Amino acid sequence: MTSIYAQRRAALAAQLGAGGVAIIPTAPERARNRDSDFPYRHDSYFYYLTGFTEPNAWLVISANGHSTLFCEPKDVEREIWDGIRLGPDAATTTLGVDAAHSVLALDSLLPPLLENQSCVWYPFATHKGLETRVDEWLGKVRAKVRTGVVCPSQQRDLCVVLDEMRLVKDASEQATMRRAAAISAAAHVRAMQTSARMLRAGEDAREYHLEAELLHEFRRHGAQFPAYTSIVAAGANACVLHYRADTAPLRDGELVLIDAGCELDGYASDITRTFPANGRFTGPQRDLYNLVLASQDAAVAATRAGARFTDPHDATLRVLSQGLLDLALLSKQQHGTADDVIAKKAYVAFYMHRTSHWLGMDVHDCGSYVEPGHTPPADTSVPSAQPPGRILHPGMVLTIEPGLYVRPSPEVPEAFWNIGIRIEDDAIVTATGCELISRGVPVKANEIEALMR
Ligand code: GLY
Ligand code: MN
Ligand code: MN
Repeated sequence: MTSIYAQRRAALAAQLGAGGVAIIPTAPERARNRDSDFPYRHDSYFYYLTGFTEPNAWLVISANGHSTLFCEPKDVEREIWDGIRLGPDAATTTLGVDAAHSVLALDSLLPPLLENQSCVWYPFATHKGLETRVDEWLGKVRAKVRTGVVCPSQQRDLCVVLDEMRLVKDASEQATMRRAAAISAAAHVRAMQTSARMLRAGEDAREYHLEAELLHEFRRHGAQFPAYTSIVAAGANACVLHYRADTAPLRDGELVLIDAGCELDGYASDITRTFPANGRFTGPQRDLYNLVLASQDAAVAATRAGARFTDPHDATLRVLSQGLLDLALLSKQQHGTADDVIAKKAYVAFYMHRTSHWLGMDVHDCGSYVEPGHTPPADTSVPSAQPPGRILHPGMVLTIEPGLYVRPSPEVPEAFWNIGIRIEDDAIVTATGCELISRGVPVKANEIEALMR
């Protein structure tokens, strides 16, 4: 049986063109401090094509479909300290590559793979020093031209091809992402319930207590990492978009915003929920919450195959802009109608980020946000129009994450000061709409209250 990885390698090879050779390194190990490393995380492109998670490995694919892996050689001494290595001998059968060698032979065995080829493909601007390595390998090939060897004359960005491939998730990727989202949803439920329980018991509840619950739930279901640094923001901290879980107390009467998701088997999830620390929304909190939720509902309704990537964002802006006027966060007298708010971008004072991003192996996944094939005008003195947003296709996965963040200001009703709300779900685009894979944690205000009771 051909593995999903072999199928992807074949699909990539078919796009390289005659004489094309693709070189894909995995991620380097990175020192954290002194002789301790950050937890190792493979490169997403490399993993997409191999399913191989060891460091210090390279994949080479030729246009004829031939694949060569370079990996750490077997070494009893090193394996006693660092763990079992697959090794080149087992790699051919385990990973289904056509050839495998020790990575120690990379500099001697890679240049011959480039001989008499026309184009070297590798991911541009993603691996520090890769361009130099490619130069050195090409230099070795060029040194042989007098013997009749032809040196590749073109270099092309492999990201362009791989990003397109990764943008539409196949059935196995979707299945993993559903599982990742379900684990993350359970973690959010656990954090909400812990918050209410600790406050009811009069305990000194802090942001990090909820972060600990998230990490516990991720790991006990086998997720390898958080997909990104968890945000647990109590009260006014929710208005800091890139806040981390810190030491602030969870206070009766205040909201908590949690933006956290696990990475499972190389795939990210990305969920945000905002809930009352004690389990009961106040009136103003509920008003603002319901507005954000209504804007998310509108965005979800706008997410389907054939729609553009920008449609959910536009739907969100319409609902939020009207709501900001209705709740007097923006004065009707000063700002006019929702159309005026949108035209003048007056909503930016409260909603300063986009509604969606692609989600996949990377939390902000690869893939162009504009429709491919858009060509800027030939006359560079003419300002180029905004390229049209990407048309959605079944299997694309995006987040839908509207929010409102209210900083204290004399122009804003005081009841809303320091409230920050975001609601974020993960959506797989289908032919007729989208599948929200993160709804294992509720979003309706009364359902959140019931869960925390
Ligand atoms: N957690 C990152 C994001 O929502 O984009
Ligand atoms: Mn997100
Ligand atoms: Mn998020």
